[in-house]
Amino acid sequence: MSELSVNHLLGIKYLNEADIQLIFETADHFKEVINRSIKKVPSLRDITIANIFFENSTRTKLSFELAQKRLSADVINFSASQSSVKKGETLIDTVNNILAMKVDMVVMRHPNPGAGIFLARHVKAAIVNAGDGAHEHPTQALLDSYSIREKLGDVAGKNVVIVGDILHSRVALSNIFALQLQGANVKVCGPRTLLPKHIEALGVGVETNLKKALKWCDVANMLRIQNERLDISYFPTTREYTQQFGVTMDILNEVDKEIVIMHPGPINRGVEISSEVADSKQSIILNQVENGVAIRMAVIYLLASKIKH
Ligand code: CP
Repeated sequence: MSELSVNHLLGIKYLNEADIQLIFETADHFKEVINRSIKKVPSLRDITIANIFFENSTRTKLSFELAQKRLSADVINFSASQSSVKKGETLIDTVNNILAMKVDMVVMRHPNPGAGIFLARHVKAAIVNAGDGAHEHPTQALLDSYSIREKLGDVAGKNVVIVGDILHSRVALSNIFALQLQGANVKVCGPRTLLPKHIEALGVGVETNLKKALKWCDVANMLRIQNERLDISYFPTTREYTQQFGVTMDILNEVDKEIVIMHPGPINRGVEISSEVADSKQSIILNQVENGVAIRMAVIYLLASKIKH
């Protein structure tokens, strides 16, 4: 297969296993490119991309922009907080005005679940979902699986536990879909209040004891508590949360197993992960960030190749 089955990247839910393998093979090529002394290729000289962010971001925003520049695309950046959205302009009007400037692709982060799906139905551009509320964050899941593949050789057959605030996490849902498509075994672990009801229906195991979850897994993906999405208290205190669900060197030593530690960022040191673990040899957190550029280059390149001028 040499092209994606989709024209937009709205969620992992819309991809198949062959799409993921194509993205990974393309990312392998671009990872080699970005480690050369000349890190740029002319592939997308005829493509213009708008990055529109309605929510804060460090890693996703910077790595999309870098990926686009490495591919020689023209890039414009839009931050909702400094735009006419503040004067009441709608999402569709905003994007159609951007497209009137001859933009081919829109990368969007938005607080509302389904915002990218809505946009793809109403505007003529390739849409990439850079995180939509608590729904999906597909490029994060792709770079996470790519990092597991790089570290362990394969994703199929691996035991992966996702720990923390599953209820409000777009990273969790996209990771569950991506890992299952590739044949991994997935469990979620956290306080019952932060696990969605009926999550087992997605085919994942549920564990509320961190030590048992760590004993089972090859990879632990630690998630932050999404304080910005919490309207009520889901656990008594942050200290109690950390005592039960924070990963520390002490608990890793007790488990006594070579577990790969991941985190999508931003990390809250001393809450879901101790500094010692975050900065340890078991942690691949910065490899995830590095791989984000190659994965986003691959996604943009493959979607751009489907645009008809
Ligand atoms: N992982 C992630 O989405 O980080 P940012 O919010 O900084 O983009």
